[in-house]
Parts: sequence; structure tokens; C-alpha cells
Amino acid sequence: MKVQEKWLRAFEQTFRKCKVEPGEIVRILAETESRAINIELAELALARMGAIPVKIVVPSLPSNTPVPVRSTGASHVVQNMPPVLQALSGPGLVVDLTVEGLLHAPELPRILESGARVIMVSNEHPEILDRLTTDLDLTSKVKNGVRMLAKAQTMTVTSAAGTHLDITLSGARVGGVWGGADRPGLVQHWPGGLCLAFPKADAVNGTLVLDIGDVNLTFKRYLESQIVLHIENDYITRIEGKSLDAELMRSYMQAWEDRNAYAVSHVGWGMNPQARWDALQMFDKTETNGTEIRAFAGNFLYSTGANDMAGRHTLGHFDLPMRNCTIQLDGQAVVDNGQLCEVFG
Ligand SMILES: [Fe+2]
Repeated sequence: MKVQEKWLRAFEQTFRKCKVEPGEIVRILAETESRAINIELAELALARMGAIPVKIVVPSLPSNTPVPVRSTGASHVVQNMPPVLQALSGPGLVVDLTVEGLLHAPELPRILESGARVIMVSNEHPEILDRLTTDLDLTSKVKNGVRMLAKAQTMTVTSAAGTHLDITLSGARVGGVWGGADRPGLVQHWPGGLCLAFPKADAVNGTLVLDIGDVNLTFKRYLESQIVLHIENDYITRIEGKSLDAELMRSYMQAWEDRNAYAVSHVGWGMNPQARWDALQMFDKTETNGTEIRAFAGNFLYSTGANDMAGRHTLGHFDLPMRNCTIQLDGQAVVDNGQLCEVFG
């Protein structure tokens, strides 16, 4: 795959959102299995901006999990290696091109506390990154969404398909992604457009009905039949459905032999009007990490797996973006039947 001028421009635009300055030393973190074209694009775009790109490439890890891990945002490639951690610490931008991403990496808090800012480039074909890089600025809307999440005590999610979830938000860690890591201590990912909360323990109860066209992003697969998840005190206690979709879900979760794989990781909604629900259909599985589907405006994103706030750690992780849901915060709708409400300013 050859470098294209249009892709370079997209990388430059994102780095401008991250306030890269001429003369700034920018660290690019990659691994041996990283997408080579994106490393090259990052390096060239930074150089064109007058910055000094410095690459740190670590070995990808052997897989030692019972099932393949995909799209977790929790890379373990840094392995707490002191020289690597040292190189990633301190003020300045880190461009994260690891396969899984540093978003939930165990070392990230230390890296951010040291004054670095991190832009995680989702492991996508550059065409996807380019298509979702425009002048549209999601910053204030996403920040308003995060403020609303932070203030709310409860989130209620319903749908015509039969979803009814009650979520306690008090005590949750909330966050938002607008796509530019523009200050020290901040992590963002590209593409962006997401508000989310990691609830504390015993926060989620009810029924989640995954409908036709909802997505399992670990499998990068649109559901072709309904799956009913019964959730009690954060844990999926029953996965109802006779289809292949349901069977795959049961099988993957069982493979971890870890109860925490059944618990809630994060809940939230997509904010990016340019991200498309149907885009996954256009790419081979190796070409995408599915972040666009996490971010499409008006989805409800339910995720299972690790949740620091609840003291749960596991590599089993599902991101399940759903359409046509209504999301209320303390009774106020922020998403109505899959459409973002006009409440974000
Ligand atoms: Fe997730």
C-alpha cells in the first residue's frame, strides 16, 4: 500500500488538533504487528509539520489467551519495560499505533501523569481515518455530554426491541472522546465522537435486547438475529437465543472461564454524525478496528469486560453498539430512538 497525499493531510489535520508544534519531538509508539502504512503516514505527516518524529517499536506479544483478543483498547505490549516507559514519559505528544491501543493499557495512567498527551490512532485502513477527518469539531458537544454524564445519578436505556436497562451512574468514571489530545495528561482516540461511563460495582440491571443490525465488534459482525441478555448486578446471567449469533457469543464468553468476562465494562453513546453504522460492511476484518461503529451518532454502546471502577480485570471484552435505543439521564433523553437529542449545545 502506497502513501497517499490525502491520507497525509488527514494525519496532519489530526496532529494539528493535538496542537503539534514545529520542532516538537513526537514519540510514535508502534509494535512489530502495527499497520505499516499508518506508521509511515504518521512519521511523514509529523515531519511535514516541522515536528521531529521518533519511533519506538516494541515486539508484539505471543498470544496466550484461550480465544483471540480483538479491539479491546488494552494493549499490553509496553510490558512495563523501564526504558520504554521512560521514553514515553514526560511532556509532549505520543502517537499510539499499537494494534490494540493504549487506551486501557496498565501503563497509561503513569504515562499521562508524567505530562504526556496521547493520541491513539485506531488500527484502521487509512481510508477510514481519512473519511472521518473533517473540519467538524465535536469538542464542545462531547464535553457537554460528559458533563451531563458526570452530573447524572441514573441512566435508563429502552428500545422497541425490548431493552430495559437501569444503570446507576453515581460514582462512575466518565469520559469523552472528541479526537484531539491537546493538553498534557489527556488521552484521545481517532476517530472520535463518544461519551462513556465506567459504572461502579452493582450498577447495572435489566434486559438488553441486541437486535438485528446491532454489532458485536469483537467479531466485527452485524447480528442477523436477536439475542436477549439478562443482566443482574452487572453480570450477564443468561444469553437467550438459538441463532449462530447467540451461540458465538456464549462460546466466546465461556472460553475465558472468568466470571468477570460477563460483567459490564462501560456504557455510553456515539456522537459522531459522520461515522456510519453500515461502514463495517465495506471492509475486510483485517482492515478495520471498528471504532467508527463505536462512534456513530445516536448509538447505545454497551460493553462487557474489564472495569477498574468495579475492580474487575479480564481480557474478555465485547463492544456492542446498538441502534434505535432511547437513553435517558435522570429522566432526560439524550438519545431518542437512535437519534441524538438537541441537548448538547
Ligand atoms: Fe470497550
